[in-house]
Amino acid sequence: MISNETIERIFETARIEEVIGDFVTLKKAGSNLKGLSPFSNEKTPSFFVSPAKQIFKDFSSGKGGNVVSFLMEHEHYTYPEALRYLAKKYNIEVEETGQSEEQKAERSEKESLYLVNEFASRYFEQQLWKSEKGKNIGLSYFKERGFQEDTIKAFQLGYSHDEYEAFTNAALRENYQLEFLEKTGLTKVDGQRKTDRFRGRVMFPILSHTGRVLGFGGRTLLKEAKIAKYLNSPESEIYHKSKTLYGLFQAKSHLGREDECLLVEGYTDVISLHQAGVKNAVASSGTSLTTDQINLIKRYTLNVTILYDGDAAGIKASLRGIDMILEEGLTVNVLLFPEGEDPDSYAQKVSPQELKDFIQEEKTDFLRFKARLLLKEAGDNPLEKSKAAREMVQSIAIMPDVLQRDAYIKESARILEIDERILFSELAQLLKTISRQKEKQSRNQRDKKPEMTVVKEDYSLEKEYSPVYHQEKALCWLLLNYGHHKYRFGHLDEGEEETVAAHILVEIANDELEFENESFQLILQEFMDYYNDNGEAMTAELFLRKENQKLIDTVVDLVTEKYELHNWSSQKIFLPEKEGFVFQFTEEALLRFKEKRISQLIKKIELKLKSGTENWQDEMETLNRLNQLKIQINKELNRVV
Ligand code: CTP
Ligand code: MN
Repeated sequence: MISNETIERIFETARIEEVIGDFVTLKKAGSNLKGLSPFSNEKTPSFFVSPAKQIFKDFSSGKGGNVVSFLMEHEHYTYPEALRYLAKKYNIEVEETGQSEEQKAERSEKESLYLVNEFASRYFEQQLWKSEKGKNIGLSYFKERGFQEDTIKAFQLGYSHDEYEAFTNAALRENYQLEFLEKTGLTKVDGQRKTDRFRGRVMFPILSHTGRVLGFGGRTLLKEAKIAKYLNSPESEIYHKSKTLYGLFQAKSHLGREDECLLVEGYTDVISLHQAGVKNAVASSGTSLTTDQINLIKRYTLNVTILYDGDAAGIKASLRGIDMILEEGLTVNVLLFPEGEDPDSYAQKVSPQELKDFIQEEKTDFLRFKARLLLKEAGDNPLEKSKAAREMVQSIAIMPDVLQRDAYIKESARILEIDERILFSELAQLLKTISRQKEKQSRNQRDKKPEMTVVKEDYSLEKEYSPVYHQEKALCWLLLNYGHHKYRFGHLDEGEEETVAAHILVEIANDELEFENESFQLILQEFMDYYNDNGEAMTAELFLRKENQKLIDTVVDLVTEKYELHNWSSQKIFLPEKEGFVFQFTEEALLRFKEKRISQLIKKIELKLKSGTENWQDEMETLNRLNQLKIQINKELNRVV
């Protein structure tokens, strides 16, 4: 864990305009900066950064937050990853707390492996560009393949000499420890013999989504097939092949923007597509896709397009694997390349525009693709056809979305020319089996960790159905924007004043009320705690240092948007600029909130009493108290409004 002191320092030092400026071109617009949204493909800028408030707000996607939330959204960092990024950028030393010795050792071991890999990556790159053999053999190989210099640099490609220990010696000379060279698999140790794993190969570093070097793929330059074409780093503490997607670091900002992930097989496919301007491609590196990789993709987009070399046998074999992607709730398209071409060779052969057109025109929905494929095989054979139908239904049954399932059943019936009722009944049966299996599974692995999902929660319900939503929002708005303003509120004597925050907090606490909306209650609670500890109001700025993104979203909305004055007293229009506005608004918002909340509580108790309750005497007492309070509030409201 990063210490609180470090977090404080990071927030105090980091400037949101500088951090975002590394990713987005910003221009001055009044006291704000503005630019094109990095989260959508807009033409007119609607992305704002406020240096004064240290927040950003993107009106095209609705996203907003502080400097850390920006990095989490844009770079898909976790909270600690984002903090570490900032610490690095601003040269802040990260202090760790609450780690056991074991955890510290593990952390530093991993860090050592990264450092060795990063050295290796720099070394291979240097050899490619600077050494004679590197230039003559490695670089010229890449150029012959049509890779341009900036592409080679973007993917940090390199060259390993055809010598037994050129790399290992270089690393040892730089004081990297043999232990870590061995653990990353860069060096093979056999007694006294130390040899380089990668020899005479062009090197493809495999990066994490944050750009750290996890491992390498090395391609031989020899034509004869006696040795493996590609040699990869072995699994290590930092490299897990099944959890890695090649090219994600270079592709990640494009996955969200295109809202699509192109999935290819090889390193060179990713690179050539990227060079041709198709930058949202990643590779599973020759293996079939794993659930971990699918989950990685889901952080960025729910649409996957699989790019195949045009080979029917291979496609047939991979159909089952695709079911797994459907099961995760992603939509899948497939795209077949002409016979004998892979994405790399095709991208090198046609113009970038032709490539883009080809991808757009040729990609087909996976299930439609599968139905056609099966139909072609079945021909007119009725037995084969019904087998095909069953296979289709199997793919459809695992899709989590009901509407999608229905649509696909209808479509499959049409393509296969089978009565859709037959397919629907088949589906119903399968669903029953699946749900029984699932139940059994969940019983068996109840304590297994839940998997990460990216399905966005929908908070609109909270908004629609809570009768006190507007009142709670108004009070939070006042707390955040005017908490420090002082007035002489109703109960105070002449010459006495109190802050808006103190007034609101004390009034709500005295009546033992809470907010119903979860985010607003969080804000209120934070204000209460802070006020109790410090005797003064919290600021929006302090709020924005919290880790809770939902809270940050709400706060950003409250401090960026002018309060909508469409509220309760329709005849009356509040103008924020007007003298006395805040005072009036505070009094009224508080009373309106109490009135509504108390009416709600009264209704609840009345219902309880009606349906019978054991301690009805207590309930009656509360009811009386609330009714009294309500009368009093209404009186005050008449006075204020
Ligand atoms: N691969 C591997 N080990 C191998 C062969 C393949 O790890 N022995 C992985 C690599 O990630 C490779 C991908 O599978 O990029 C696809 O393999 P292949 O189609 O054989 O290679 P290409 O990507 O077409 O490479 P090239 O164009 O350089 O021949
Ligand atoms: Mn190829």
